[in-house]
Amino acid sequence: MSYIVTAASLLLIFLWATVYLVDFPSFASSVLPTTVQQSSPSFNGSWYPPNQTQINDLEAVINGTDVFGFIFTDAYSAPSNAGDGIPNWCNMPHVNPKTYPVPPAGYTLEYVEVIHRHHKRTPYAANTFPRESYPWNCDDEGLFAYGKPLNPNGHDSRSTYWSVYTSLSNPFAPQGFNGTCQFPQITRGGLDDSWQHGKDLFEVYKDPLRSIFVHSSGQVAYRVTNNVITSQVAGMVAAAMSDSTTELSLAVQPASIDSLEPTYTCDAGAALYASYGVGSTDSNWTEHLTASQPLFDFLDNISGVAPNDPGFHQSWDHYFDNLSSRLCHGKPLPCKISNSASCVTTSTANAVFRLGLYEYSYIYRSSPQSLHASAASYGVYVAELAQNIRDSISGASAVIYKHNVAHDGSLAMLLSILQVDVMIWPGLGAEMVFEVYNKSGERFVRILWGGMLFRSSNPVLGLVDMLPLDTLLGYFDALVGVGADKIPDMCANTG
Ligand SMILES: *[C@@H]1O[C@H](CO)[C@@H](O)[C@H](O)[C@H]1NC(C)=O
Ligand SMILES: *[C@@H]1O[C@H](CO)[C@@H](O)[C@H](O)[C@H]1NC(C)=O
Ligand SMILES: *[C@@H]1O[C@H](CO)[C@@H](O)[C@H](O)[C@H]1NC(C)=O
Ligand SMILES: *[C@@H]1O[C@H](CO)[C@@H](O)[C@H](O)[C@H]1NC(C)=O
Ligand SMILES: *[C@@H]1O[C@H](CO)[C@@H](O)[C@H](O)[C@H]1NC(C)=O
Ligand SMILES: *[C@@H]1O[C@H](CO)[C@@H](O)[C@H](O)[C@H]1NC(C)=O
Ligand SMILES: *[C@@H]1O[C@H](CO)[C@@H](O)[C@H](O)[C@H]1NC(C)=O
Repeated sequence: MSYIVTAASLLLIFLWATVYLVDFPSFASSVLPTTVQQSSPSFNGSWYPPNQTQINDLEAVINGTDVFGFIFTDAYSAPSNAGDGIPNWCNMPHVNPKTYPVPPAGYTLEYVEVIHRHHKRTPYAANTFPRESYPWNCDDEGLFAYGKPLNPNGHDSRSTYWSVYTSLSNPFAPQGFNGTCQFPQITRGGLDDSWQHGKDLFEVYKDPLRSIFVHSSGQVAYRVTNNVITSQVAGMVAAAMSDSTTELSLAVQPASIDSLEPTYTCDAGAALYASYGVGSTDSNWTEHLTASQPLFDFLDNISGVAPNDPGFHQSWDHYFDNLSSRLCHGKPLPCKISNSASCVTTSTANAVFRLGLYEYSYIYRSSPQSLHASAASYGVYVAELAQNIRDSISGASAVIYKHNVAHDGSLAMLLSILQVDVMIWPGLGAEMVFEVYNKSGERFVRILWGGMLFRSSNPVLGLVDMLPLDTLLGYFDALVGVGADKIPDMCANTG
């Protein structure tokens, strides 16, 4: 690891240890050693620790029983799964007419930007066990992929979709799940959840945004990442929001610089995460892996995963994805191929899920270094969001509703930058909404997280409920720069 990253880390630890309980709006750049100044943001506010909850309490994680109030089930595809108060990680709460916090009188909604994780999918191939006892089929949907000339003089094309298959003559057929899915793809249940998500947003925003969804397509814009699963979601969301099935363009950035996923190169950000999180030997990170070693041993024995497979053992990510995607689709938990009496139980799966939530909380919030790592790694999207808001207010852009379909990592880094008070692993469909209001010519902002008002541990932001817009934009600008002009230096590979 480079000197500069180390120095920046030490600086953040120093700040955290000395002043984190004090609300200080900025610190003079003169306190920064020159080498750090070049690669560090000038913070408008500092890192503040998240609330103390069971999620970041290792004893509750290791010795607990439930999943801190979350359930994992395919049973809820309902519009407002917050309705009964139990969030379903497989279809997270989002803005909907039943639970929407109605804004006070006098505030006119001017701009909305939504960002959410895609919906239910199969696991990624890397998260499947070496051998599986059942296949996974996706014959109940088509993944449409085709090119079509936009030039009106071109020939028309047919609407074509993929049928996934393997052949007996292909000796490289998957040893994990077989069947007719791409691993990953959004499943049929995920498509249904995507449609409902769009419908719920439409019901809430159609009137305050003056029925733009039916009247003016230029005021509504969709953006996806270079990973096709987000386009699979966007098609369903957009159909539900417009009652139209005509073709629609989805904004997407080149795969190598995509800021929404994100994929832009940020070596220093990645190095900082790796210095304290997944793959590090820092005892603050490894203590939960050590404490959960018996669980690894048990699951390795059932799954056939090699105990020295780093992908499965540097974090709980793979086992989490592997087990949660089964429960999210109503599939059974796995048993040992050679002994069908040796199975993963619900209580074992819950232990894995607690560990996954704990890891996200540590990587993105509990570590004092998380703010800098996330600002570098996701600062470009944050700067784009700030610019979208400015362009809407100034009239430079006609867009008043912008909808982004992203990933768990995208949401996690955004929550990290905004310093959410209680961090979780963002589940399927997990959603943040930025609402900009006009009251007598002054602008205010609300942030909704899971359909409810968002609370930051940073007192400059606090409960983001009609916060003066300039406070939020000032926070973003100070962290990442207007036009993300601080990010190239923050990301530079420092050797
Ligand atoms: C976090 O702590 C603050 C301050 O005590 C409290 O107001 C807030 O409700 C807590 N957040 C959650 C999600 O419990
Ligand atoms: C879990 O409980 C056991 C038995 O009471 C205890 O020895 C262990 O320290 C606990 N684990 C953690 C991480 O607190
Ligand atoms: C879970 O991991 C096992 C073992 O590698 C694999 O066979 C299986 O396909 C995985 N399942 C999911 C849903 O990831
Ligand atoms: C894969 O599918 C074939 C055909 O359905 C089946 O015979 C085979 O047992 C399956 N293998 C696994 C590992 O699921
Ligand atoms: C580990 O955590 C402790 C207590 O939270 C903290 O004092 C220490 O600085 C952390 N170490 C590192 C390397 O982050
Ligand atoms: C692995 O599982 C089998 C049951 O299938 C059990 O008999 C054996 O003790 C287990 N081994 C370990 C190391 O847990
Ligand atoms: C919003 O504020 C501007 C002043 O910046 C004012 O001219 C405009 O009428 C307001 N719009 C609404 C809908 O209140």
